[in-house]
Amino acid sequence: MSQPVEAILIGAGNRGADSYAPYALAHPEDLRFVAVAEPHPVRRARFAAAHGIPPELQFESWEALIARRLPVAAALVCTLDTLHVEPAVAALEAGYEVLLEKPMATTLAGCVQLVQTAERTGRLLQICHVLRYAPFFTVLHEILESGRLGEIITVEHRENVSYWHMAHSYVRGNWRNSALESPMILAKCCHDLDILFWNLGRTARLSSSGALMHYRPENAPPGAPQRCTDGCPAAETCPWYAPRLYIEMQPLLQIAERSPDLLERWGAKLLLHHPTVARGLRRLLPPLDRAMDYRGWPLSVIAEDTSLAGRWEALRSGPYGRCVYHCDNDVVDHQIVTLSLESGATAVLVMHGHSHREGRTMRYDGTRATLRGCYYDEEQVLEIHDHLTGKVEVIRPAQGRATAAGHGGGDMGLMRAFVRAVRDRGAALTTARASLESHLLAFAAEGARLHHTVIEMAAYRQSALNDPPLTSPG
Ligand SMILES: NC(=O)c1ccc[n+]([C@@H]2O[C@H](COP(=O)([O-])OP(=O)(O)OC[C@H]3O[C@@H](n4cnc5c(N)ncnc54)[C@H](O)[C@@H]3O)[C@@H](O)[C@H]2O)c1
Repeated sequence: MSQPVEAILIGAGNRGADSYAPYALAHPEDLRFVAVAEPHPVRRARFAAAHGIPPELQFESWEALIARRLPVAAALVCTLDTLHVEPAVAALEAGYEVLLEKPMATTLAGCVQLVQTAERTGRLLQICHVLRYAPFFTVLHEILESGRLGEIITVEHRENVSYWHMAHSYVRGNWRNSALESPMILAKCCHDLDILFWNLGRTARLSSSGALMHYRPENAPPGAPQRCTDGCPAAETCPWYAPRLYIEMQPLLQIAERSPDLLERWGAKLLLHHPTVARGLRRLLPPLDRAMDYRGWPLSVIAEDTSLAGRWEALRSGPYGRCVYHCDNDVVDHQIVTLSLESGATAVLVMHGHSHREGRTMRYDGTRATLRGCYYDEEQVLEIHDHLTGKVEVIRPAQGRATAAGHGGGDMGLMRAFVRAVRDRGAALTTARASLESHLLAFAAEGARLHHTVIEMAAYRQSALNDPPLTSPG
């Protein structure tokens, strides 16, 4: 039997420790973490304990870990957006095969530098475009490749960010301000642009519009204080009231109310509508107990101590208790990108942060059939409506294959593919080279939005890639 791939982790936060590293615990025959770099002492210790990493292989920052030149194959770089290029370039230069979180970089020059370094060093640089590894998008891609829909004429792809996820990540959280991390079209939609590129090929030209319309001080309810916990007069009527999101966990329970598992659905309803009864019954009903003990995302982001007391303290003093109208946010809450493809087809990407439900929906109109799809964590369906026969085929790609969690199975699929690419020299779908195009599209879309221009992608690509020059793959 082959040995597990040995890896180091740079950044033991939400993605590194909680989304990808569990793969090593579930598949010890495939992957083993031997060292970690993480400045936050609690996170570092927690990760080291979970993966059996000795003190001498725990580091406070990536530089010291890379300098050790450990004789292991792989490095995962899971730091925040602005700290991707330096550690990933250093890891490639040190000989590691690298898995890097998206976005590759917050500048085009950074993206180009990464592709160049990977190709010069001959190392794998795989980007975490997790959607390509989710069964839903694999099946969608296979349908398009099969030609069943005929020639694709036009596509609408929507990224419906829920009102509460928008508030969590893009108003109060890490990706609220484009100068601090990334513009939203890069942070959120490089995945969507990657899927459109994968399915439809290259874009000839694009334009984009959008703005931050709602989460602004002038829209605050009269008398709203800086923090929800400071006696907000709108507490009862504001959907973003932080204790409702992080203490009562209303949005998570609303998702559980749609679960295919009857007991889980029933438990969520009870907790939402009769919390006192639910508390009394919790020991009798495992789904209730699980829901009340839940400590994962997004709770794990707001505090290290996710107990009720810890969460209240985080809301009183940390960023996630801020009024959504009084944050230092500037990223858009709605943006559209219109794409004219080299094939002659058109596509529109709609992204917004005001959805009742989190998920992507899409429609592909071809000369032989129309495809409609919805990709929610708890429900994934594709329908093919055939023009000739009038028949409708309904496909549920994730049923029985993927869990509801982790991008519909994409997180674990990505890890499996990475291990295969490192150990068995398998093909990686999302190499840095393959991922460059989605990043180019995102930077172009942001430029088009800000300057009200139409961008010709051939010229844009050429100027971006020639300065510095990027040779085409051999
Ligand atoms: N693929 C996806 O679908 C997806 C989803 C969400 C986020 N992301 C991306 O994942 C990345 C990480 O996001 P996150 O939510 O895990 O953030 P996070 O803040 O939870 O984790 C980042 C970790 O890096 C650590 N860090 C900071 N400086 C460091 C250093 N010098 N050396 C080593 N570690 C250091 C931080 O302490 C933190 O624990 C971001 O780029 C984000 O855009 C990707």
